[in-house]
Amino acid sequence: MASSPEQLHGDHQGTQRKVGCLQCQIMSPSSSSTSVWMVLLIGISWTAEGVICPKECACQYLAVNCTGKQLEEFPASIPLDTRQLILAQNKLSYLPSVELNFLSDLIYLDCSGNTLGEDLDFAFVSIIKLVYLDLSFNNLTQVTFGTFSQLSSLVVLKLSDNPSLVEIEKDSFANNSWLRHLDVSRCSLVFIDISTVRDLPNLRSLGISGNLWFCNCSFMELSSWIKGSGVAIPDSDNVTCYSPAFVHGLRMLEEAQQELHYKCYIHFDDQDYLFLGLVGFCIFSAGTVLAWLLGVCAVIYEFLTATGEDDEDEDETAN
Ligand SMILES: *[C@@H]1O[C@H](CO)[C@@H](O)[C@H](O)[C@H]1NC(C)=O
Ligand SMILES: *[C@@H]1O[C@H](CO)[C@@H](O)[C@H](O)[C@H]1NC(C)=O
Ligand SMILES: *[C@@H]1O[C@H](CO)[C@@H](O)[C@H](O)[C@H]1NC(C)=O
Ligand SMILES: *[C@@H]1O[C@H](CO)[C@@H](O)[C@H](O)[C@H]1NC(C)=O
Repeated sequence: MASSPEQLHGDHQGTQRKVGCLQCQIMSPSSSSTSVWMVLLIGISWTAEGVICPKECACQYLAVNCTGKQLEEFPASIPLDTRQLILAQNKLSYLPSVELNFLSDLIYLDCSGNTLGEDLDFAFVSIIKLVYLDLSFNNLTQVTFGTFSQLSSLVVLKLSDNPSLVEIEKDSFANNSWLRHLDVSRCSLVFIDISTVRDLPNLRSLGISGNLWFCNCSFMELSSWIKGSGVAIPDSDNVTCYSPAFVHGLRMLEEAQQELHYKCYIHFDDQDYLFLGLVGFCIFSAGTVLAWLLGVCAVIYEFLTATGEDDEDEDETAN
């Protein structure tokens, strides 16, 4: 049952490191239980050292790298204990939910440079230990709450260079409170609600350059929040407004903010409007009352002078 150290050595290069340990076991008086234990050990070491590995990919300890292999399908037989999976620069157009979510120990997933575009809502449901997710250079169109809601350990999320990405719903990252680096640069985004990023307590870096931002007052609120928050904005010279026309091409964090300052920041709230309304009403009422009083006075004066003349006339006729 016990194989010689030479046989073990020849079986697989990856087991070399373990062979030293096996030798000490073999030196010791052999018993059947030791042999069983050895066989088990060999089995485990083979799996860990990547004997099971998708044929297109390179496997190292807990890491599977399939970069640039023209893959159109998610590779089969990825070891279930994989922690790092790199699928960059392939032709994947979807991620099969079942196969991906078997990899429940996954911490690092790089799918950049593919054509992922279909609804990703059920793609990431049980890889909940994921810390790093790169979906840049794909064909994503929309991000919703369901897309990343189960990834509550996520720290880095790269969504940049998705030219079809037009919408990030307001609560998309509501469950990703560890998010530290978020990049949505060079997409086709028009608007992002301030609460989407403001409510991320750990955010340190926010890539928003190269989009088609609609700089209305809600958006400029985001701009002033960014300035006060200390969140880093990479490539901030390329964070420009696309519309409305009078701020087109202006840098959002400087020129556009100045341009829109009076329009957006000097504003009245409800109480101010109520107060102004009251003042206006008072002035109007006072004016009306004054005009009425003047009118009454004028009429009385007219009346008095008229009766005085009548009296005089009467007096004259009497004489
Ligand atoms: C990207 O998505 C758009 C719209 O969903 C589609 O028309 C286009 O063909 C896609 N591009 C690629 C390269 O898959
Ligand atoms: C938010 O994340 C937690 C894990 O932290 C998860 O249990 C919960 O289901 C998530 N919420 C939603 C609505 O998906
Ligand atoms: C700004 O534009 C967004 C998107 O069109 C809209 O949801 C928001 O209500 C607008 N804000 C203001 C103050 O007009
Ligand atoms: C801004 O974008 C242009 C192209 O749109 C690019 O050439 C330039 O390098 C960018 N600026 C920075 C600082 O990255």
